[in-house]
Amino acid sequence: MKLFIDTANLDEIKEVNEMGLLNGVTTNPTLMAKVGVKGEKAVVGHYRKICEMVDGDISAEVTTVDFQSMIEEGQKLAAIHPNIVVKIPMIKDGVKAIKWLTDKGIRVNTTLVFSAGQAILAAKAGAVYVSPFIGRIDDTGWDGLELISQIANIYSVQHYTTQILAASIRNSNHIIQCAGLGAHVCTCPLEAILGLLKHPLTDIGLAKFMEDAKKSK
Ligand code: G3P
Repeated sequence: MKLFIDTANLDEIKEVNEMGLLNGVTTNPTLMAKVGVKGEKAVVGHYRKICEMVDGDISAEVTTVDFQSMIEEGQKLAAIHPNIVVKIPMIKDGVKAIKWLTDKGIRVNTTLVFSAGQAILAAKAGAVYVSPFIGRIDDTGWDGLELISQIANIYSVQHYTTQILAASIRNSNHIIQCAGLGAHVCTCPLEAILGLLKHPLTDIGLAKFMEDAKKSK
């Protein structure tokens, strides 16, 4: 399973990238607003910086919702760098835009996916990635991981090549579960990635080893 970071914060991207583990980055309008990137020129510049930092797919989301605007914006985003994957929302015009962009050779990540039916449409439209939002499903009292399992099963039975990009990850356990369920990619906040490192017995064991190491110096 590939590991992406779900942020537009360059320091966070740098931190995980320096561990040598980062396979890509996902952003969305909320994450871009959070780092204060405003205006077309700044947005393009920011995506370019991310593409230069990370050797992997970088998702850049459209900020329009009608077919014509989405394909125009999608083409502009894709022109920034070959690693840009255009993020398109799962709506009727979005499905049409995914098909259109895919036919033009532009790779698409379908976002705001909350059901298996939506995942089938994303695959049939030719999206490279489908992004089910695990945490937001959990927030409503449903089981986000169950959706990953359902989509993984459907894609396998139907031989769909669209990759499952588990998104809206809230914690390290989500990452572990997604890996077990067959998600191709998990895009995570920094804390959830760093949380994978943590175990109290590692800390206790290391402290003891360091103490004993002094005895042989
Ligand atoms: O980028 C899409 C997704 O990961 C958003 O997550 O935490 O806003 O539900 P969240």
